[in-house]
Amino acid sequence: MESLKLLALSGSLRKNSYNTFALEALKVLAPSHTEIALGEIGDLPLFNPDRELENIPVLNKLKLSLGEASGLIIASPEYAHGISGPLKNALDWLVSGIEFPYKPIMLINTSPRASHAQEALKEVLRTMSGNIIEKSCVSIPLLSSELDCKGIIENEEIANTLIVGINNFYQETAAQKT
Ligand SMILES: Cc1cc2nc3c(=O)[nH]c(=O)nc-3n(C[C@H](O)[C@H](O)[C@H](O)COP(=O)(O)O)c2cc1C
Repeated sequence: MESLKLLALSGSLRKNSYNTFALEALKVLAPSHTEIALGEIGDLPLFNPDRELENIPVLNKLKLSLGEASGLIIASPEYAHGISGPLKNALDWLVSGIEFPYKPIMLINTSPRASHAQEALKEVLRTMSGNIIEKSCVSIPLLSSELDCKGIIENEEIANTLIVGINNFYQETAAQKT
């Protein structure tokens, strides 16, 4: 089976973030022919189009890992019915680059009650010509669960949802590469 590199971004900067835990768990649960790297967006400067031609090492690193990845996985919280600021900031930096368009995308929603941000995020991603793989998008009830990465892996139902999502994502992404 073809090995695929995937980039995962958490929209939360919180140390004990459910979204980050979900991505860390996904790294463990994903099939062995996937290699998931967690990208860093917390140290990106605030987006300013005047700075787009500047040499910004954290941005270069993000673009490089996105360019090398066959697919993008995003897990992000809802804040005041909107997309998290850090994630929107990162996406704005990626709008004009060549790395993002047509990239297959898997979305993980860690709070099923939070629907506004997911819809808004999908709109942004589609506007950026992202390729959302709907059958890989999953919703898992982590909010208030107190589950960390290990807890998610050990929770059969949640782990299974993630496994189904990442397997669907692998299949679609690998098929689109050929
Ligand atoms: C300032 C703030 C605003 C929030 N607004 C919403 C909201 O509008 N809808 C919602 O479902 N959850 C909302 N939440 C809850 C977060 O989405 C939730 O705590 C989530 O787990 C944060 O993600 P994390 O655990 O990855 O940091 C809000 C939390 C904060 C701190």
